[in-house]
Order: sequence, then structure tokens, then C-alpha cells
Amino acid sequence: MKLFIKSVFTIAIASLVSCGGPAEKKESTNKGALAGSAAEKVYVKPGEHDSHYAFISGGFSGQLSVYGLPSGRLFRVIPVFSQDPEKGYGYSEETKPMLNTSHGLIPWGDSHHPDISQTNGSVDGRWVFINENNTPRIARISLETFETEEIIEIPNSAGNHSSSYVTENSEYVVAGTRFAVPFPQRDMPISEMKGNFKGALTFLSVDPEKGDMDIAFQIKMPGFNYDKAHPGRNASSDWFFFTTYNTEEANTLMEVNASQNDKDFIAAVNWKKVEEYVANGGGKKEPARYAHNKWNEEKHMAISEMKDEVLVVDPRDVPGAFYFLPTAKSPHGCDVDPTGEYIVGSGKLAAAMTIHSYSKMIKAIENKDFDGDAYGIPIINFEAVNYGVLNQPGLGPLHTEFDSRGNAYTTFFISSEVVKWNVKDLTVLDRHPVYYSVGHLMIPGGNSRTPDDKYLVAMNKITKDRYLPTGPEVCQSAQLFDISGDKMELLLDFPTIGEPHYAAGIAAEKIKAKSKKIFRLEDNEHPYAVKNEAETKVVRKGNEVHIYMSMIRSHFSPDNIEGVKVGDKVYFHVTNLEQDYDVPHGIAMIGAQTSELLIMPGRTTTFTWEPKQVGVWPFYCTDFCSALHQEMQGYVRVSAKGSNTPLKYTLDDEVPGEDDF
Ligand code: CUA
Repeated sequence: MKLFIKSVFTIAIASLVSCGGPAEKKESTNKGALAGSAAEKVYVKPGEHDSHYAFISGGFSGQLSVYGLPSGRLFRVIPVFSQDPEKGYGYSEETKPMLNTSHGLIPWGDSHHPDISQTNGSVDGRWVFINENNTPRIARISLETFETEEIIEIPNSAGNHSSSYVTENSEYVVAGTRFAVPFPQRDMPISEMKGNFKGALTFLSVDPEKGDMDIAFQIKMPGFNYDKAHPGRNASSDWFFFTTYNTEEANTLMEVNASQNDKDFIAAVNWKKVEEYVANGGGKKEPARYAHNKWNEEKHMAISEMKDEVLVVDPRDVPGAFYFLPTAKSPHGCDVDPTGEYIVGSGKLAAAMTIHSYSKMIKAIENKDFDGDAYGIPIINFEAVNYGVLNQPGLGPLHTEFDSRGNAYTTFFISSEVVKWNVKDLTVLDRHPVYYSVGHLMIPGGNSRTPDDKYLVAMNKITKDRYLPTGPEVCQSAQLFDISGDKMELLLDFPTIGEPHYAAGIAAEKIKAKSKKIFRLEDNEHPYAVKNEAETKVVRKGNEVHIYMSMIRSHFSPDNIEGVKVGDKVYFHVTNLEQDYDVPHGIAMIGAQTSELLIMPGRTTTFTWEPKQVGVWPFYCTDFCSALHQEMQGYVRVSAKGSNTPLKYTLDDEVPGEDDF
């Protein structure tokens, strides 16, 4: 089956891409960020709060960062897919299971697209979902604790890129594979890829109350590459749209061989129909191995479970649920406007952007206005679904978000600019350079029904001369625009962690008030928790020594321990007894092959230490917690293997609990 005609246009575009470094242009110094009005617009007085949160992915750092807008101040890095010694995440015994996968513990990830949960098509501030590309995973982060609560591995996927996007009521979080792979994985020649590899589109259900995720079904799509995705809105909310590239199904020299077709596709998936099909017993359970890791709030620990099957749906078995919309050319962004009518395909190798119409799509489906099929999935005639094209808006369109006034904002990677255009009229209204090579952009709620459209954040891959040099690599960065007027106004540059791949933004008042202050000690069901100093103790079990330790300003209990021997495995189970806001304590032990722990009020956390040398070894608090922080310290005496030093633990020379503590 020959889908499309090859084009020489590819070569012209390919050469454009290969030499398309950042445009070395300087902004006029009379306007924009240097103007006094711009400074005022981003100035948040000391002690005052920003109006918005921006959750910016850390890209290859694997994390999610939290910034304030308009100030651009970094508040927190939430560890998600990578270990973080600052917080002990992925180092403590309680958080290690969070990073478990079918490949074992993976200490690093590549996080790309955060998306905030929605209610009735508006961001609701309950959770942020974010994908990991390399070892395909989706995480859910609580916006009460700003901690990762759940990570689920996505089987039969690779380079999990068209992820993680939520439907209008967070019914599903969607994960699409970037690479076509054997499904299920098996040993086969790479050259036999075409027709044999598949592309998995995975729908994860989300519990409306608790947020718990589960793989509801996996759709076994043709073996294209699925790049980005977007749910429909309003009338189109039963649908999900995915951009594809490499519809050529090439397996080598992709820059040429995957750029042959003039048009690739946007895949339209009616998830309601698939849901119905599955509810009526449709789909087939197939073996698959993947980890499902969940934080247990009562036990203060992550529990990892290996699962062994998924429900697989063959698109040919659900007529009326799958269509392909021809779209120029190797499209990246796949964005649906707030009304749900316009589906914008950003063909990164095309001279024009393709805008499809949802109502035309429905009509074309009714009229069976098709141009053949791909692996049994009807291809809708381009003319029958296309609303129009935006001609020559810039070079290398990547991603579009929307305001509430009918305007779209698209990033252009090659020409390093943001272009504002009217969706209905297909007219360009404004353009503004960015510095440089912009990928995604974000308007708080700009991918929802209700954009909160004062600010736009452009996320740039290259910054060159924008910051003080810091060796061969300069920080990547974000740029803040005011988009409340007719013209976009550049307000601020601010550096980011890792690669600011994509972001999600929300008004601060939707999160602020419910932010967690402490963990209540009485609710702590950690098996090694202590509720007061009298409960602290040290217990030997063979060569394991379990220290039930507490911390409170400004001491540990116990703080003198003897009877530990070389060859022991010592567990420090440490409970922070504080019940005050913003009083974590830390703990670090010399020679422990792990990070320090940072323990929140009311929480119990564990690290292990296998002493290799006899001696008296100190531990101390790592977080400056009070005027007597420096005195928050203790000793462990380590005796030789086989010695008979008795086990002894004290605070102020007395055994905790035996006297009037
Ligand atoms: Cu506790 Cu410093």
C-alpha cells in the first residue's frame, strides 16, 4: 500500500533544519524587557506572592520544577523520575520503590509534558501528570504535598512522548509511544519493521476522588511514530488526537527516510467508543510486564507492584472510532482550541500549518469521504477535513496554545519566534522573536476550555548570549510575555533546570490554600514510626540493627548508640516529631552509601548504613532547623565483627522511655 508520493521538498527543508541554528538577532533595547513598565509587571514585592504557579518539566533532569509567575522565581524541584539527594528521593528505603520498573530500579528519567488535572475542561489544581520518555512511565504528583504519589510503567511503548495529556474531567491520562516497536516485544530483524512493529496508545484511568491510575486499555495502532497529542474540547471531547510521523515506517537514517511523505497523519481516536467497547467485554488481555508504584500516605512509603497483563484493543475491531487526518508534514504539535472545533497540526517540515475542522471531520465520516485506508483505518480526504492552512507563518512550527479571545500562539523553532494568529480568520496578528530556538510554549490553561490568558511562557533550548557564560553549556531558559494586549510584550527571561520541555500553569489561588502543612503524627502508620521519644529504641535481628529514632528541635533520640558491629546492616528509621509548618530535619551518617534524608514534620523515613570500619562515628542534622541546629548530632560506636560490646542506646545518658522522658 503506497500512502503518499515522495517529495523533493524534503531535501530543501532538511537542509534548512540542519543549518537552522539560533537566529543571532538582538532585540531592540528601547522596548520590551528593558522598559520600566515591563519591570513593574514582573516585580513581586518582598513578602508578596506570585499570581500563578508554573510547573515546568526538567527534561533530561527527569524532574518537575515549580516557578512563580510573573516573577520567574524557582520555588521547588519536585523529584519524579530521577533520584534527588536534596530530598532523599530515590535514596530512602521508602521512596526507592517509586523508581522500580520491569528493568529494575531506574535512577533517572527524561520528563517532558506536564498536564494539570481538569474538571469540566478547566485546570483544577489537584494533580500534575508527567511522562517519562526513556523508560516509558507516567507519574502523578499531588498538588497538596508537591510530591510524586504514583508512577506507572507503560508496557509495549518506547520513547513515551505523546503523553501525558488528560481528558476534560481527568477520566483518562493518555500515553502514546514515540517509537514503533514489536508489540509484544520479541527478538526479530529490525529490517522487518514495516507492518510488524506497532504503535501503542495507552489510556490510563484516573480515580476521580483519589487520583489512582490504572491502565484501562492499550490500542495497538499501526507502527508509526506518535509525537504529540491533545484531547478534544466541548463537542469534540469524546475524541483524542495524536500527531504521527514516520508513516513511511522507516527504520534507518530517519532524517531522510522518515521525511518522504508530503503528509503524515493526525490520528483521531474516539475514546468514548473504545471505552464502551471495552465495557462490553471488548479487547483481549495480553501478557505484559510493568511496574505500578504507589505512595501509601498512611504508611509513608511507596509500594511497587509488578503487573503481568494489559487489555489490548485492535482498532479494526471498533468501527467508527479511528480515523487518520492527512497533515503536513512530520507534524509535532497537535493542539485543539478551547472551543474544540479547530485541530492545529504543526508540520515542522512544512511551509504551512494545517488546521482541521472537527465539524468537517464528523461530516466527512458520515459521508464516508475517505481516501483509502492505512492498516484498515480510514484516511479522511484532506479537503473534506481541512479548515484551512496558515501560509508561511514562520519556520519550523512546533506547538500552539490559545487565549480565550480566539487567538492561537505558535512557536517556531527555526525562526525562533512566537506568532500570534487568529484561529478563525487564519491571519497572523503579531510576531515576537524569542532567544533562542523555542520548543513549547505555555499559557496557563491554554490547552483547556478556559485559558487564563495574561501570560505566555516560551521555553527555549538555546540561550547563547542571554546569560553570563558558565562554561561550555549555558542554561536553558524560559521567557515570559504579557499577552493581555494586542501585541505580545516580552517581560522577563529566567533560567530553568534541565531542559524546560513543556509546562502547565494555573492561578495560585487554586492550589495555595490546600497546600499541606504537616503530616499528622497520629495518622502515621509507618511500621517503624515512633510517636514520642519514649518509644525510641534499638533492636538487633541477626546482623540487622533497627534504630527507631526521633528528631525534634534540637536533638535526636537516641543520640548515643553502642553495640553496632562491622558487618551489620543498620537501618535508621527516623521520625520527625515536629508538628509545625516548615520544620523539616535532615540526617546524614558518615560512610552511608546513600544521600541524607530530609524528613517532613510527622513523617518517618529510613536509610541504611553498613559500617566498614570500627570507631565512633557521628551523625548530624543536615537542615538548618534552629539556633541549635549545629548541636543536633549524635554518635554510633562500631565494634569489630564478633565482638561482644552490648547493644546500648541512650539520650542524656538514660535509656529513652525508662525514665521520665
Ligand atoms: Cu534539625 Cu538542623
